[in-house]
Amino acid sequence: MIDMHTHIFPRISREEAAALDPQAGPWLRIDEAGQGMIMRGEQAFRPVIPPLWDAAARLEDMDRQGVDMQVVCATPIMFGYALEAGRVMPWAERMNDLALDYCAAAPERLKALAQVPLQNTELACREASRAMAVGHVGVQIGNHVGDRDLDDAQLVEFLDHCGRNDIPVLVHPWDMMGGSQRMKKWMLPWLVAMPAETSLGILSLILSGAFERLPRSLKICFAHGGGAFAFTLGRVDNAWRHRDIIRQDCPNPPSSYTDRFYVDSAVFDEKALKLLVDVMGCERVMLGSDHPFPLGEQQIGGLVSKATFLDDAGRRRILAGNARHFFNLT
Ligand code: CO
Repeated sequence: MIDMHTHIFPRISREEAAALDPQAGPWLRIDEAGQGMIMRGEQAFRPVIPPLWDAAARLEDMDRQGVDMQVVCATPIMFGYALEAGRVMPWAERMNDLALDYCAAAPERLKALAQVPLQNTELACREASRAMAVGHVGVQIGNHVGDRDLDDAQLVEFLDHCGRNDIPVLVHPWDMMGGSQRMKKWMLPWLVAMPAETSLGILSLILSGAFERLPRSLKICFAHGGGAFAFTLGRVDNAWRHRDIIRQDCPNPPSSYTDRFYVDSAVFDEKALKLLVDVMGCERVMLGSDHPFPLGEQQIGGLVSKATFLDDAGRRRILAGNARHFFNLT
């Protein structure tokens, strides 16, 4: 099993975080009992468990669950997209080097995605290429930079760079819409806004016509099964057929672009997975768990392994084969 969507958060000190952002720089506090807390400045952000920063603890989890390989990437709070790019560039380099240090505990079983200062296309392209040269297998980006979605000319330029240089891209939802007032409780930003953010990222590329201009060599994957995309695709196609303003930049039906991107399998329900595989095809879905967070799949690969609608060949593709192709793993 290759699990292509998992997170790390390195042992970043308060001082290191302050160099990025004195008020809200993200760092890791570990208490005497070995429990972790991601901090933003002096504010507690989220309790976390050792596999997030300790590769040995992760490898124990992987052994227990029969996972052969995990692709690890930053926790999105580490992105720094709202800060000045010149300050974020050395931070991204440092985080990417720490990710490789983490993977050095078992280089055949742990692979890293890089983060980039996406607010500056030139720096983002440079760091993506540097990271690939030193051992990363791709990049992870957030689905937007402030008010700019993936159809933004600068972000399309970054994706074009990735497509032309064989740099696989994982798009992760983050900085969720509507989080300020109406979704204060019950982790609603994660339950309602996150699937909408991911769908917004996909539709930004489809409806803007960006997929018409981006090279077919671009390998891009959206987290959490593409969020709300699969379930709402019929609505989007219907809208495209009946409203010219939806067709104006997108020459083909939205559903015809599902061969241009991938999704992970983190949907937690067999009926949802079946819909996803029906919409995307089993060659476009990859095992992704969101390990080691509580909203991730606790028995990694359990949903795909037990899904009764999959045949053995399809199951193998989702559990490992598709990720092997996507990340050029041998
Ligand atoms: Co995630």
